[in-house]
Amino acid sequence: MAATTAENGKDFDVVVIGGGPGGYPCAIRAAQLGKKVACIENDNLGGTCLNWGCIPTKTMIGSVAALYTIKHAKDFGLTADNVGIDFPALMARKEKVVKTLVGGVGFLFKKHGVTAIEGIGTLKDANTVEVIKADGSTQMLTTNNIVVATGSVPAKLPIPGIDDADIYTPNWDVKAKFAAGTLATGKIWTSNEAVSAKQIPEELVVIGGGVIGCEFAYTYNGLGTKVTILEFLPRLFATMDIDLSTELEKVLKNQGVTIRTNAKVTGVTEGENGKKSVTFERDGKSETIPADVVLVATGRVPFTNGLNLDKVGVTIGAPKNKRAIAVNEKMQTSVPNIYAIGDVIGSGLAHTATAEGLVAAENIAGHHSTMSYKANPACIYTEPEVASVGLSEAEAREKGHDVKVGTFTFRNLGKAMAINERDGFVKVVAENKYGEILGVHIIGPHATDIIHEAVVSIQLENTVEELMRTIHAHPSLAEALGQANEDVRGMAIDKG
Ligand code: NAI
Repeated sequence: MAATTAENGKDFDVVVIGGGPGGYPCAIRAAQLGKKVACIENDNLGGTCLNWGCIPTKTMIGSVAALYTIKHAKDFGLTADNVGIDFPALMARKEKVVKTLVGGVGFLFKKHGVTAIEGIGTLKDANTVEVIKADGSTQMLTTNNIVVATGSVPAKLPIPGIDDADIYTPNWDVKAKFAAGTLATGKIWTSNEAVSAKQIPEELVVIGGGVIGCEFAYTYNGLGTKVTILEFLPRLFATMDIDLSTELEKVLKNQGVTIRTNAKVTGVTEGENGKKSVTFERDGKSETIPADVVLVATGRVPFTNGLNLDKVGVTIGAPKNKRAIAVNEKMQTSVPNIYAIGDVIGSGLAHTATAEGLVAAENIAGHHSTMSYKANPACIYTEPEVASVGLSEAEAREKGHDVKVGTFTFRNLGKAMAINERDGFVKVVAENKYGEILGVHIIGPHATDIIHEAVVSIQLENTVEELMRTIHAHPSLAEALGQANEDVRGMAIDKG
């Protein structure tokens, strides 16, 4: 349980700035380890993940996936007539899920004795945080440690017609617009507007074929929108194993999404009939397409505005991201009692932020805890889902490993046939001599759940042989992992 007094006469042992999936678990873990903790947040608790990202998107996707299943009722020997979409009800369900989870974080803070403070935090010195409240008043907090967990905002796209849009804002601006009913009333969206839409657009052009672009393309295509993805690089989600990108592109195209890779967007202007007109260059030619809405999905950048980090000596400029706060493996910044975690250090994923938050809390409590990114899964919540952990085949070869690959398709599995979800495969990338599993890449039903066998395997440095000896329940989707491991040694029983 949290301490009631802090050490050294300070107000708190730990002040966490930001209550997202990095900040709130960090605050709770520090309290569990006996520290007196405050968490400052100016949006609802839960951050981008709960309010504007993971949870709203996955709830919308849940509705789209259910719609898809109902539309294919006949395949299951069922009839379902007059199937339709009640979009306001769909969005109300999303709101209810978000509210429930946000309330849950508040409850957990109370349970663990974490003080939640509403306002904007700014550093005065390495032991003092000022909180600026909505009414303009301020509160000064003294603390032994500070954790910066302020997340990220959508990256500004420096393209005429988009660069001046009022969409690249922190969460509390998004919250204020949502409350005022002015969010998603324009024609240029980020993911914030896409999870707050008032109606389903007829034509959506998505700029960027990364994870946000693919998830919304799937979602709105499923809701009946004509969707086009414009991706600058030669393939979708270029950091993933190429076989997953290729299969995802095939699946999305089959579902009706138009995908234009090698497409460089050069401008967005007013078009005909009140629509936007999106111009892009491809193969040296310029093309223009209409859009009711343009979704900017070209990455996110660390949010450090107003924190005063330079004044207290915190270095900005991480090796892989010059706008991110630099930290060591204990999550300490250049000022040892100031820690930073999550998107503000360039991490990009909610679960990574959580892991970093726990490491920071443990170090603050005097443990020796270090962060490892070796077994860090990446997931895309399209249908079928995509999930990946460890090295891609290309990365493993670049690192000089003697690589062996095994694959297994879901269509060879009884469970996949029974639930009528046969698309996709599992790919295991292993080192040949000792059989160490280096990476596992899945596109298929429930990929984001079954990837965790592989996450544990990579964390524990398991070999292909150990996984071949592991009994997989039958019938289950996880059998595909067992058989893909067998295939690394050319011995998959059910591979045709
Ligand atoms: P991203 O970096 O994954 O993808 C952006 C894409 O936009 C890239 O493929 C890039 O080549 C393309 N692009 C950039 N400029 C372009 C231009 N001018 N024209 C055409 N294409 C262009 O960024 P994304 O999808 O916006 O996601 C942002 C962050 O949110 C990521 O860190 C991501 O991991 C995280 N996120 C994670 C989710 C998950 O785990 N399921 C869901 C949603 C977001």
